[in-house]
Amino acid sequence: VNNGLARTPPLGWNSWNRFACNISEETILSAAKSLVSTGLKDIGYDYVVIDDCWHADARDPETDAPLSDPVTFPSGIKSLSDQIHSLGLKFGIYSSAGIRTCANRFGSLGYEDIDAKTYASWGVDYLKYDNCWNEGLSGNASVSYKRYEKMAKALNSTGRPIVYAMCNWGEDQSWTWAGELANSWRMSGDIGDLFTGYDPGCPCTSLENCTQFGYHCAVTRILDWAADIAPFSGPGGWGDLDMLEVGNGNMTRDEYITHFSMWALVKSPLMLGNDLANMTKETFEIISNKAIVAINQDPLGIAASRIAQMPLEEGDVQAWVGALADDAKAVAIVNTSPANVTVTLPWDDILPFQLTDYESSIRIFDLWQRDDGQQWGRELAFSSLLSSKTKLRPHETKVYRLETERSRAS
Ligand code: GLA
Repeated sequence: VNNGLARTPPLGWNSWNRFACNISEETILSAAKSLVSTGLKDIGYDYVVIDDCWHADARDPETDAPLSDPVTFPSGIKSLSDQIHSLGLKFGIYSSAGIRTCANRFGSLGYEDIDAKTYASWGVDYLKYDNCWNEGLSGNASVSYKRYEKMAKALNSTGRPIVYAMCNWGEDQSWTWAGELANSWRMSGDIGDLFTGYDPGCPCTSLENCTQFGYHCAVTRILDWAADIAPFSGPGGWGDLDMLEVGNGNMTRDEYITHFSMWALVKSPLMLGNDLANMTKETFEIISNKAIVAINQDPLGIAASRIAQMPLEEGDVQAWVGALADDAKAVAIVNTSPANVTVTLPWDDILPFQLTDYESSIRIFDLWQRDDGQQWGRELAFSSLLSSKTKLRPHETKVYRLETERSRAS
């Protein structure tokens, strides 16, 4: 939506994936401080978002205004928001377009105006707006639209710039209409800390029923979904592949690199979901890859598309390409299979021009290798890359940035 916000995908941290309802004002403030002390804030991660479970179990009896949980947020949300702002960060909060939130706290349906006004008075900069307990007001795009439009209007009439992050899990094909209302929209059920397959015990047999509420979706499943619907993204409105699981412990380094890289290339908001105060060096190195974040934040705001899939016995190798500003390109080669593979890349499809005409002017950087100054992005010899096969480890992704004379001149 053109409210002047989120011209590139929002970057930040959200409490849900790691802490769920085990949150307090200390948890949130500690994450905010870690964004600053680790340098992640300087890379661009600036939204600190409290997810579900901050609401008290009653509204203010006189004004109907929302209240925070007196045990876990005793100082109140305004005080927390002030402290987060004083760290130079932005502050986000959560509610549901239903009578309860997904964790059964008070929702905002019927209370959109008072809630929006209260959030604005607390200095809220970002609202994640969920879909639980919606009283059957869904199953039809126009019905869902009206329910989410109420909060969009309520936020707008506060006069405070508040990023509006819709979370209706792609229900009623929201990717086709959410851009008129919101700055981002979830496209699937909740992500899990898993690369392929389903939650243990999940009876899912297809992408559709994997996304039924209650079961977590694997990274590769969400990526399949994104291949179809990320093209609806652009400045001001982004398909949200859900918050990051990098650092939560259940995936390998290569799997987390695939997860992080692909969320970046398809221009998903990058909301860190790990415990920032206790992360490993390996986790930090992944989420602080500035060259990958720069692809996500490229001013053109065009999501990469999947241009080829080479099927293997289990999984496949996928090629993704996305246009970047100044004729540069982002290219990702994803191995979803559990095997080492050696592939010939489809360079004719990746590059929309005759290689021979341009080869000498193209430069290519491998964004998961460091250069001599230890920065991410090692330059490779383009001609030898063209003539050699590419090797990928199980579940590994390679990301290349291609630059032409024009992108270098700017
Ligand atoms: C839903 C959302 C999640 C999270 C939880 C909180 O499942 O999709 O991202 O916000 O609710 O209860």
